[in-house]
Amino acid sequence: MAEVIADLEGKSIILGLTGGIAAYKSAFLARRLQEHGARVQVVMTAAAEQFITATTMQALTGNPVYTSQWDTRVPSAMAHIDLSRGADAILVVPASADFMAKLARGAADDLLSTLCLARDCPLLVAPAMNKQMWGHPATQRNANQLRADGVVLLGPTSGDQACGEVGAGRMIEPDEVLEELVAFFQPKLLRDQRVLLTAGPTFEPIDPVRGLTNRSSGKMGYALARAAHEAGARVTLVSGPTALAVPRGVNRIDVETAQQMFDAVMATVLHAQIFIGVAAVADWRIREPSAQKIKKGRGSPSPVFEFVENPDILATVAALSNPPFCVGFAAETHDLDAQAQAKRHTKRVPLLVGNLAQDAIGADSSELIVYDEEGRITLGPADKLTLARKLIAEIAQRISS
Ligand code: CTP
Repeated sequence: MAEVIADLEGKSIILGLTGGIAAYKSAFLARRLQEHGARVQVVMTAAAEQFITATTMQALTGNPVYTSQWDTRVPSAMAHIDLSRGADAILVVPASADFMAKLARGAADDLLSTLCLARDCPLLVAPAMNKQMWGHPATQRNANQLRADGVVLLGPTSGDQACGEVGAGRMIEPDEVLEELVAFFQPKLLRDQRVLLTAGPTFEPIDPVRGLTNRSSGKMGYALARAAHEAGARVTLVSGPTALAVPRGVNRIDVETAQQMFDAVMATVLHAQIFIGVAAVADWRIREPSAQKIKKGRGSPSPVFEFVENPDILATVAALSNPPFCVGFAAETHDLDAQAQAKRHTKRVPLLVGNLAQDAIGADSSELIVYDEEGRITLGPADKLTLARKLIAEIAQRISS
């Protein structure tokens, strides 16, 4: 399992539960928030208590759970003020249709709705309901009102529902809520910038069942796509074959070969302000892949392949008349400084990020060396997401100056 990053360290989160079958997922969410360093204070509505007990939530968070505005455990007897004081965000998961309606009209008839009305911190809600309830004009009107009031809606998504139906209204998964919350707190260093990335290996066919590829896992490129999205950018990720999940909010275009990657990049690059080439692109492809599976025949010679060079995506983008800010990557096995600076010059990119292939490929953590015209700086060692956030900050700083 990937290492957990404490990217909510020092954050104090009020986790509000309202009445819905998805309330059981909040138990898992409470754990995940704490693993990421957050302090979690749970507040439940009476309806939520029909689905999951306060005891469960208390045991998971180690904090007393509050359910009533008349709770005498709060010293000032003003739970709605005391609990939200010092909170960095209120997160309502799940948010029922009824609770959204209350929020939209500013009702304050129980502890959680009063807390939301009296807050001076951001409010994020994850709707969860049956598709008819979500699709009802009243709920849609409430959702729009909440957005207009600055409330962040996380989801919902479409899928199987507890009632047996399939449709929109299903709550996003706890890990997705967590990803959204973590992103919410990241500095918006690339707000509204368009970022195009390549990631992963490419796959060059030999015949319908065989091909040439490399050991790139795609992890660094995917971490960068996530970090750019967290920083407020609109992100397109052109990805070779990987087993990785697409980060939330990132538009992924799947490709296999270097030529397909080149075509996908060229079709979108004119809109991009930043291009980051992280993919390990095959330098050559087989001139004529066989249309049929190549068979080994007794006594017949081993096949000999003729190779053609693939287009250099990064160099082509950097040579455009009005190029985006280009960042290249180089995984080298030796002479990293010399090879990386030489690559930066040949490909004419302002920034080239080097790492040692033996440290980088497939690993969850490594070190990055950033080369520019002034020299080199080292980022890390750290996990890839932390490195990606640091690199995004380096890029943002260069773009703004
Ligand atoms: N790159 C690219 N298109 C290619 C080859 C490489 O866009 N056809 C990009 C990579 O995504 C990376 C940078 O160029 O950002 C350097 O890739 P690398 O494979 O290290 O460089 P090469 O030019 O292929 O040099 P070599 O393999 O000889 O080290």
